[in-house]
Amino acid sequence: MPSPYREEHDRHLQDYLRTGKAKIIGIGREVVARRKDGTVFPIDLSVSEVRLAQRRLFTGFIRDITERKRLEKDILEVSDREQRRLGQDLHDGLCQQLAGIELMSQALKQRIAGRSKADAARAGEVARHVRAAIRQTRLLARGLSPVTLESEGLMSALKELASNTETIFHVRCRFECEPPVPVRDHAAATHLFRIAQEAVSNALKHGAATRIGIRLARQPGRIKLAVSDNGTGFPQHVPKHKGMGLRIMESRAGMIGGTLAMENPPGGGARVICEIPAAGANKKHNDCGRKKEKPEIEKANSHR
Ligand SMILES: Nc1ncnc2c1ncn2[C@@H]1O[C@H](COP(=O)(O)OP(=O)(O)OP(=O)(O)O)[C@@H](O)[C@H]1O
Ligand SMILES: [Mg+2]
Repeated sequence: MPSPYREEHDRHLQDYLRTGKAKIIGIGREVVARRKDGTVFPIDLSVSEVRLAQRRLFTGFIRDITERKRLEKDILEVSDREQRRLGQDLHDGLCQQLAGIELMSQALKQRIAGRSKADAARAGEVARHVRAAIRQTRLLARGLSPVTLESEGLMSALKELASNTETIFHVRCRFECEPPVPVRDHAAATHLFRIAQEAVSNALKHGAATRIGIRLARQPGRIKLAVSDNGTGFPQHVPKHKGMGLRIMESRAGMIGGTLAMENPPGGGARVICEIPAAGANKKHNDCGRKKEKPEIEKANSHR
């Protein structure tokens, strides 16, 4: 195993032998392993204990999950790209068509105003409904294809997410970020934005929350995104197979070297926290979904 896991390995075994508390034994974990030539790759490690007469043996099974990780990354990229495309299609297609219908109904209103005031009022009503539909569609398109994220960055996009949530769902949703936390790396910004989006959607859908807070903060060496709500809180056991949201959030966090935690804070409601290394958030290169990238692991290998 590469450092620092390599050095910690024996201590973990000693700790287990001393305390009997298993942190990995019988549980399994995704870690990084090292080939003989020094290159690193992701593995699924499962360690188990066997008692043989007077002896205690530990066995470790290592499964190379490079391919699975690559697939996860590809799937997320495809899904981000598809969402963006759908958002653009809604904006450029449906919104334009609706705008045309609105103009036509306004013209109709003017044409029939002299003949029947009641009919003209009806035509005016149609125009008003179409305007409302355009507004909804534009908000939907911006959620799917967050242009603000591309042009003004994560902080502005999260602020917009909060204000759109207030407008559409009539709940209180605030974004806090003091002092400012710029996230220059596009992939990191996109993953954090999608994590916040799913957490907000879950807070509304499952928690029936009326207050939601999105916080972005910088801590020593890390960037922390937290989405809290005042809803029902997570159920005691979240069925693993139930939804895709939490699993995708975890995958996204892992993809940018971060962690994801879910908790029910003492004050009530639910909180989702994603922490990523600050260094990864401000890499200059990188892109998410717009052009094909080599997976991180492969990139790391090709440098050696
Ligand atoms: N903010 C929250 N408050 C209460 N329960 C939550 C919250 N977020 C998630 N949950 C619980 O966790 C479960 C899994 O959430 P997840 O986002 O993975 O799936 P989903 O929202 O049901 O489906 P999908 O996201 O695939 O549309 C939910 O079904 C719900 O029971
Ligand atoms: Mg969900």
